[in-house]
Amino acid sequence: MLIRPRRNRRSEAIRKMVQEARLDVSQLVYPLFLVDGKNIKDEVKSLPGNFRMSEDEVLKTIEGCVEKDLTNFILFPSVADDLKDKKATYSWSDDNFYLKVAEKIKSEFPATTLISDVAMDPYSSDGHDGFVIDGKIDNDKSLPILAKMAVAQAEAGFDLLGPSDMMDGRVGMIRKALDEAGFVDTGIMSYTAKYASAYYGPFRDALDSAPKAGDKKTYQMNPANKREALIEAELDTAEGADFLMVKPALNYLDVIHLLKEHSELPIAAYHVSGECAMLIAACQNGWLNYEQAMPEVLLSIRRAGADVIISYFARDYAEMMKFWA
Ligand code: PBG
Repeated sequence: MLIRPRRNRRSEAIRKMVQEARLDVSQLVYPLFLVDGKNIKDEVKSLPGNFRMSEDEVLKTIEGCVEKDLTNFILFPSVADDLKDKKATYSWSDDNFYLKVAEKIKSEFPATTLISDVAMDPYSSDGHDGFVIDGKIDNDKSLPILAKMAVAQAEAGFDLLGPSDMMDGRVGMIRKALDEAGFVDTGIMSYTAKYASAYYGPFRDALDSAPKAGDKKTYQMNPANKREALIEAELDTAEGADFLMVKPALNYLDVIHLLKEHSELPIAAYHVSGECAMLIAACQNGWLNYEQAMPEVLLSIRRAGADVIISYFARDYAEMMKFWA
């Protein structure tokens, strides 16, 4: 035999030398759920190891992450029911705790990257990402609300805004509003190909944000579609997005690969709550080994083409990297 592929797998050092995909902690983003109050650290039952946290607890968590070189965070608010209304007015209100916590994090940890969530669902009494009128999600009437929310987040100091709502035209509308308000340096990480997935369950438990009626299929993409992601990518690019995101990640590795091939923009992948919960459950049952399975999963998303990975495993991965280094 002239060719023996096993020669390059002979030792750990050789295997590492020829390793194609690598995942650095700097490419990871850690999602955090915020809640108003003090001394609150309330575990999300369907996503063990993840918590709804008040400002004091979040600051402690962030400090621990920064020590492990994990500097990127995506923040989501868990809003009290009595603050929710049809137009998500609390999302840009002056006393919105989510905006205040972001401001505080940036003042204490200026080197972090904070990513926001632009969508109406955490603030909406209807639990939908857009404005519900007569039982329908009205695309164009949602846009000014999303733009207002975006400007408030930019004012609070978020580095990147993450429109996750899937309304048509929102990236352009948000870009214009940001520029007009002078926030030319605030970036947009657009949820470009966001699918109507069953894997957002634990996240909706965390925020208590499930739709009150119907589902999200008139705005989130059909899981059967791949080419349609290219239409969304073209639009987001033309409208000024700085990152394109695919969400979820594991069930959509082919879509990540497709966007990577077709775009020069950085590609982000959101390894969502349900995808992480599955693995946690299997590991808690003793059916899989977390230290082995978790990095394999993250690496598969990277190998598919993601430049940035948002994952509830980011902190554990950073911890393992610190330990191995
Ligand atoms: C809301 C939003 C969702 C997620 C991120 N932003 C839920 C949804 O669209 O219903 C899900 C993230 C996860 O499951 O980890 N616009």
